[in-house]
Parts: sequence; structure tokens; C-alpha cells
Amino acid sequence: MLDHKTAHLGPWLAVPMLALSLACLAQPDSEDVIKYRQNYMKALGGHMGSAAQIVRGKVDPEGHLARHAEAIAALSEDITVLFPKGSDFGETEAKPEVWEDWQGFQKAASKEKRASAEFLSAVQGGGGAKAVGASFKALSDACKGCHENYRAEEEE
Ligand code: HEC
Repeated sequence: MLDHKTAHLGPWLAVPMLALSLACLAQPDSEDVIKYRQNYMKALGGHMGSAAQIVRGKVDPEGHLARHAEAIAALSEDITVLFPKGSDFGETEAKPEVWEDWQGFQKAASKEKRASAEFLSAVQGGGGAKAVGASFKALSDACKGCHENYRAEEEE
């Protein structure tokens, strides 16, 4: 039986096991990487969709626009890590250009990252509806800018 002095050590026993399972994850297979990034992109899309409704004045839940803007900025932090080398086959819409033109892809990612920061500061800074609307449009264009060159969109 564990007395109260050793009982609190319980959670620490999990640490080596966690390290072990993380080591196994060091080389995730391509299908998992693709699935992860598609879900990640869907999360971005979900926040953008909800934010669009607020920006257009369709709904107005208090404080939510800042919440979406924060989430979008956080998710835009390092989009390129979602595209490791070798994750270019399988059920993906990522075009080979992502890896063939890695510099251009990085540029598109940093442009969108900047746009997401500008949208967040417009929302936080109380720049008014005009600044919010303009920065939202710029952000949305930055998403599309990357998709146009690097994503093979299926007809939906
Ligand atoms: C630097 C390039 C880049 C940027 C920036 C980018 N995306 Fe993507 N996005 C992609 C690529 C490439 C795919 C295809 C991924 C795949 O299928 O493996 C994708 C896929 C998607 C998908 C489809 C996910 C699925 O499979 O269901 C959505 C939705 C999406 N992006 C939304 C967004 C939104 C919203 C933004 C901006 C806030 C954004 N993306 C910014 C490159 C980008």
C-alpha cells in the first residue's frame, strides 16, 4: 500500500512512459500527418467561418470575435510544420509544389501569419468595424493565396 508520502509520486511514474510513447511518435506515418493537418486546417476554417458571421453582423455573441481571432493567430503560428517532407502521398490535397517550391510556400505561410496578427490587433485594438472588416478580408485572401498555389481543391 502507498502511504501518503509516496502516493503523490504516482503521476511521475507516468513520465517515463510518456517519454516512451513520444519516442514512438517521433516518426509518425504519412497518413497520420496528413489527417492531422487536415483536421488542423478544418479548425482554422471553422474559426474563420464563425468569425465571418460575426464580422458580417449576422450574429453577435459577446467577446467571441476576439476568441476566434486569438485561435486563428495561434493556429497560424507555424503552419509549415504541418508539411514535413514525405507527407506528400496519400489522401492529400497538398500539391507537390509545397515541397518543390518550399520557399514560396514558407512565404505564403508567413504572409497569412502576419495577416492573422493584424486581424487580432484590429479586433483587440477597437479599430472599429472598418479596420476589422478590412483585416478580415486580407486574412481570408492570405488563406486563399496559399490554397491557389499549393492546394488542389476538389469540386465541392
Ligand atoms: C501556407 C499555405 C496555407 C495557408 C496559409 C493556409 N492553408 Fe489551408 N490548406 C493548405 C494546404 C496545402 C491544404 C491541403 C492539405 C492536405 O489535404 O493535406 C489546406 C487545406 C485546407 C482545408 C481543407 C481541410 C480538409 O482536408 O478538410 C481548409 C478548410 C483550410 N485549408 C482552411 C484554411 C484557412 C481558413 C486558412 C487561413 C486562416 C488556411 N487554410 C491557410 C495550405 C494552406
